[in-house]
Amino acid sequence: MNTKELPLIAVKDVTRSYILGKTVVRALRGVSIDIERGDFLSIMGPSGSGKSTLMHLIGCLDTPTSGSLYIEGEDVSEMDEEDLADVRNRKIGFVFQQFNLLTRMTILDNIMTPLMYARIPFKERKERAAEALERVGLSDRLRHRPSELSGGERQRVAIARALVTRPQVILADEPTGNLDTVIGRTILDLFHEINEEGKTVIMVTHDPEVGSISTRSIHLRDGLLE
Ligand SMILES: Nc1ncnc2c1ncn2[C@@H]1O[C@H](COP(=O)(O)OP(=O)(O)O)[C@@H](O)[C@H]1O
Ligand SMILES: [Mg+2]
Repeated sequence: MNTKELPLIAVKDVTRSYILGKTVVRALRGVSIDIERGDFLSIMGPSGSGKSTLMHLIGCLDTPTSGSLYIEGEDVSEMDEEDLADVRNRKIGFVFQQFNLLTRMTILDNIMTPLMYARIPFKERKERAAEALERVGLSDRLRHRPSELSGGERQRVAIARALVTRPQVILADEPTGNLDTVIGRTILDLFHEINEEGKTVIMVTHDPEVGSISTRSIHLRDGLLE
């Protein structure tokens, strides 16, 4: 099978319900979308519309209640936790609103961490982390700790950490949500460059500015595509 002809990610009639005591929250109620290589997709919609739920499914952090999800033709919707973790490590880089850096580690160690899970030897981990830091313009900060950096710099570190495993897909959930507008813009510019370098970028955002750099946007409302 030639996987190049398949969409990078195919979401087929996916639902996700959460059970909370006696109530069922239907966070996604049947969503289908194909995402192609090189897309910069923005996922928009009001709070509670299911954006993060969809992002978690695409990122193999969770599996659907029904429907199926294929990454390069591989059905990930029925995978167990171990196989999901393997797909995540090989194919996906994550960037979160809260940066999610490990506060007691240096910047360099933070960026090296995903390579440890990928069982890359120490020397190569260090080289690749330094390279990723250079890519985001923070080579002079590798011995610092996250608390010594500004919000925008922390998000750059998180982006370097997402890039270091050389994933095809970068998923970002409200990456500018904790930043002021000017700094947020520089982070969006960085995602734009990363996309132009060939990565597929999928971003959950409220920021209307993203419309000008994304190649496609979808809008969720009450768990359905508008
Ligand atoms: N782990 C969970 N347990 C129960 N309900 C959840 C959970 N995660 C999300 N939800 C609910 O699912 C709906 C969609 O949430 P979410 O995907 O986080 O939306 P968004 O990211 O668009 O704000 C909301 O009603 C939310 O309260
Ligand atoms: Mg959310």
